[in-house]
Amino acid sequence: MAKVEVSMADIPEGKTMIFKWRGKPLFIRHRTAEEIEAEQNVDLTTLRDPQHDTDRCKDPKFLICVGICTHLGCVPVAEAGDFNGYYCPCHGSHYDASGRIRKGPAPLNLDVPFYEYTEENSVVVG
Ligand code: FES
Repeated sequence: MAKVEVSMADIPEGKTMIFKWRGKPLFIRHRTAEEIEAEQNVDLTTLRDPQHDTDRCKDPKFLICVGICTHLGCVPVAEAGDFNGYYCPCHGSHYDASGRIRKGPAPLNLDVPFYEYTEENSVVVG
């Protein structure tokens, strides 16, 4: 299946739900106001793969990313790790709530696929 459509209303605030997209896990996280503020205020000079949160999330309420660690491809655990994001238990990579790599061996942020909001509360990925 090339595309997947998700209703954002199905994703509770503060939670990541995992969907399947092109054979890969797709993470969609409904972020809280506190999480959005924290991620938008991260100093980019502290990041290994510097990307501003607003360049990763078209709607700041939702992080949409591929759930495959950029180190060697394990699936990170949601709402875990030292940066309130994702933790890859294979070799200890920590990602933040914007899916950006913050600690551990992974070289890059979690990949953000192409997506579009089709109506107020729905998104098509792919
Ligand atoms: Fe994730 Fe190595 S595969 S830390």
